[in-house]
Amino acid sequence: MCADRVKILVTGGAGFLGSHLCEKLVQLGYDVICLDNFYTGSRDNIAHLEPLENFTLIEHDICEPIELNVKRIYNLACPASPNQYQKDPIFTTRTCVVGSLNMLELARKNNASILQASTSEVYGDPTVHPQPETYRGHVNSIGPRGCYDEGKRCAETLFFDYRRMYGIDIKVARIFNTYGPRMQEDDGRVVSNFIIQSLREEPITVYGQGQQTRSFCYVDDLIDGLILFMGSNETGPINFGNPEEFTIHELAEIILRKTKSQAEIEYALLPIDDPKMRCPIITQATQKLNWKPQIPLEEGLEKTIAYFSQVKEIV
Ligand SMILES: NC(=O)c1ccc[n+]([C@@H]2O[C@H](COP(=O)([O-])OP(=O)(O)OC[C@H]3O[C@@H](n4cnc5c(N)ncnc54)[C@H](O)[C@@H]3O)[C@@H](O)[C@H]2O)c1
Repeated sequence: MCADRVKILVTGGAGFLGSHLCEKLVQLGYDVICLDNFYTGSRDNIAHLEPLENFTLIEHDICEPIELNVKRIYNLACPASPNQYQKDPIFTTRTCVVGSLNMLELARKNNASILQASTSEVYGDPTVHPQPETYRGHVNSIGPRGCYDEGKRCAETLFFDYRRMYGIDIKVARIFNTYGPRMQEDDGRVVSNFIIQSLREEPITVYGQGQQTRSFCYVDDLIDGLILFMGSNETGPINFGNPEEFTIHELAEIILRKTKSQAEIEYALLPIDDPKMRCPIITQATQKLNWKPQIPLEEGLEKTIAYFSQVKEIV
């Protein structure tokens, strides 16, 4: 740590997105504190950063308050895949609400800027398509996804109330489906699921008829967007995602082709409250931050397949 360098806290820094964010911020020369309780994150994700003198790891749960001296906070701590956030839904809600409150208090005491990793899930199963930031959402508060969707919605409310009450510099990023290396192998997200099943020549599980659509943003694009947002005067909420839309069936076919797999497609029942369409309008990010994704799906999938091909337990 160096007294002159800007100190940045990344909560959830040992997770998929957090580890890429820490890596980029370290490369940019910041002092980075990665805070994580390893609920879904892994020490392997940040092992290459640990020896660096501008990187510090703190094992901590954001549901407990913490005193630190930081100028910027990226609040990413929260299980993100349905399998993981539904495992202990009360923990998920606590992390979203109590955890965010603790990080907002830390921002207030330090007069720090704070970015919230919100989500397209605040739109629920949308009745408006594609989704602009002004859409208020269609969420089932009592369903199995409620802990995450409503938790993240409440976190957004807290962020805006801290801004209104204390003038905190907040940034609310609504992140759409993002994929890339270091996604957890077993967390059930569609891109990692399909790649692993293809590499193992196991049947690819498509829910419903696979006609539901998603948009997929490569992790490097997303991280660039979050860093631009933090450096701006914008508050948001701003959508971050790739507006190119694919059906789940199309995704399965691309992955089968890229992995040269003979795996078959197997159809299973749609999970409860599974959104049928999901696609961001990114005009705000483009106009206000001059951001748009640069990496096409086929290229991002190649990088992700290359990563999973090297993970020993998979192949
Ligand atoms: N990946 C996506 O497509 C996506 C989309 C929308 C929003 N997001 C948001 O981005 C953030 C990061 O997502 P991800 O995909 O990297 O997920 P991830 O599960 O890989 O990472 C989450 C990290 O937070 C840590 N964590 C969880 N609860 C914690 C707590 N109470 N205290 C401290 N650490 C805790 C986990 O151990 C993990 O390292 C999440 O807030 C998620 O909601 C991600």
